[in-house]
Amino acid sequence: MNTNYLADYHQFSRGGRIETSLPVSFFLKYSSSIFDCRNKSLASIPGSGERKVIIIDQAVQEIYGEMISSYFDDNKLDVVQLRILCTEEEKNIHTVEKILRFFEKNTVLRRETIICIGGGILLDIAGYACSIYRRGIPYVKVPTTLLSIVDASVGSKVGINHFGRRNRLGAYYPPIGTLIDKNFIKTEKEQNIVNGLGEIFKLSLIKSRELFDLLQNNSSLLLREKFQYGAVPVRVINLAISEMVSELEPNLWEKDLKRCVDFGHTFSPVPEMLYSQSLLHGEAVALDCLFSSCIAFNRSIFCNDTLHRIFSVARSLKLKTFHESFADTNLLIKSLEDATTHRNGNQNLPLPSTIGDHIFVNDITESDIVNAQTTMVKYHESE
Ligand SMILES: NC(=O)c1ccc[n+]([C@@H]2O[C@H](COP(=O)([O-])OP(=O)(O)OC[C@H]3O[C@@H](n4cnc5c(N)ncnc54)[C@H](O)[C@@H]3O)[C@@H](O)[C@H]2O)c1
Repeated sequence: MNTNYLADYHQFSRGGRIETSLPVSFFLKYSSSIFDCRNKSLASIPGSGERKVIIIDQAVQEIYGEMISSYFDDNKLDVVQLRILCTEEEKNIHTVEKILRFFEKNTVLRRETIICIGGGILLDIAGYACSIYRRGIPYVKVPTTLLSIVDASVGSKVGINHFGRRNRLGAYYPPIGTLIDKNFIKTEKEQNIVNGLGEIFKLSLIKSRELFDLLQNNSSLLLREKFQYGAVPVRVINLAISEMVSELEPNLWEKDLKRCVDFGHTFSPVPEMLYSQSLLHGEAVALDCLFSSCIAFNRSIFCNDTLHRIFSVARSLKLKTFHESFADTNLLIKSLEDATTHRNGNQNLPLPSTIGDHIFVNDITESDIVNAQTTMVKYHESE
C-alpha cells in the first residue's frame, strides 16, 4: 500500500470525527392585515420569486380565499395552492403524501419557500412535508388560530400522528420565519379561542404571574372581543410569545428534557388522542394543568386559596375543569408512562410551585394520581 494511503488509513482507524454546526435564525414578525395589498410581508418573503406556493387550511381558504386571490393579483404574483382538510384524523402520513405529490407536480425547487397558512394542524403537517421533501425545503408559517399564534408559531417542531400516537413522526425543522396577524382570531369559533387560552393559561401558571393576572382580570373581554381591540390582547399575546421564546430559544432541539413548557403535556396526550372528538389540544392541556396543580396542592406545595384561584380562572376562560378521561386512573398512568419514555426514562413532571413559577418532580406514584383525581372532582364541583 502507498505510504500516503497508509497514513489516511491510520488517521481514520484511530477514529475520525466530523464536526459542523447548524446556525438557526428565523424571524417572528407581527404584521396586521396580512392580505391588504399594501402589506408586502407575504409578497416579499425571501426565497420565492414570481410564483408563490401555498399550503392552506381548507377552512381558512373558505373564509379568506378571495382576499388571498386579490392580494396576489394586485401584487402581480402567480399562486399555486393546495387546500388541506385540517382535523386530527387528517394529520397523518396520507395527507403528507398528498402535499409531497403537489410539490412534485408543481416542480417545487430546493430553495423555493412554501407559505403555510393555517392553525396548528396545518403548520404541523405542512412543516413536516417541507422537512422531508428534497431533504428539506424552506417554509414560512402564517398561524391563523390563537393557539398556533402563541405556540406552534414559535417553535421548530413539526409532525403528524402515527401508530395511534400524537405527533409520533416528526422533526425539529424551523421555518425561515413566522408572520403573526392576530386579525385571524376574529373568525375563529369561540371553542377554538378557548382552546388557545388553554395554552396561555398553562404558560401563565408556570412562568408569568403578570400573564395569569391579565387572564383573571380580562377573561370575558378577551373572549367577547376575540383579541381584537385595545392593549390587553396585545400584551397577552406578547407575554405568551416571549415566555415561549425564552424557553425554546436556549433548548430548540430539546437536548435538555427537563422542559417547563411540558407542563400540561404529561397526563393529557393519551386522553386527547382517545377523545379527539370531544377534547381539543388546549382543553386537554388545561385539564392536565389543573390535575397537576391538584398534585402540587396535595403535596402542600401551595394552599387551598391558590388552587381555588387556579380553578376559578380556568372556569372564567370557559376551559373544562373536568373530563371523564381524568377519572380513568389507568389512562392517566399510561399517559405518564408514555411521557416518561419520551423524556428518556425520567418523569420530569413540571408542577406550579406558586402562580408564575414551577418545580420539577420525578417521584409521582399511583396514589398521587388517585388523590389528585379526588381533589380535581372536589374543586370542579366547588363553584
Ligand atoms: N408544533 C408545535 O409546536 C405545536 C404546538 C402546539 C400545538 N400543536 C398542534 O396544533 C394542533 C392544534 O392546533 P389548533 O388549535 O390551531 O387547531 P387546528 O389547526 O385544528 O384549528 C382549529 C380549527 O379552526 C379552523 N381554523 C383555523 N384558523 C381559522 C380561522 N382564522 N378562522 C376560522 N377557523 C379557523 C381549522 O380549520 C380547525 O377546524 C394540534 O395538532 C397540536 O398537536 C403543535
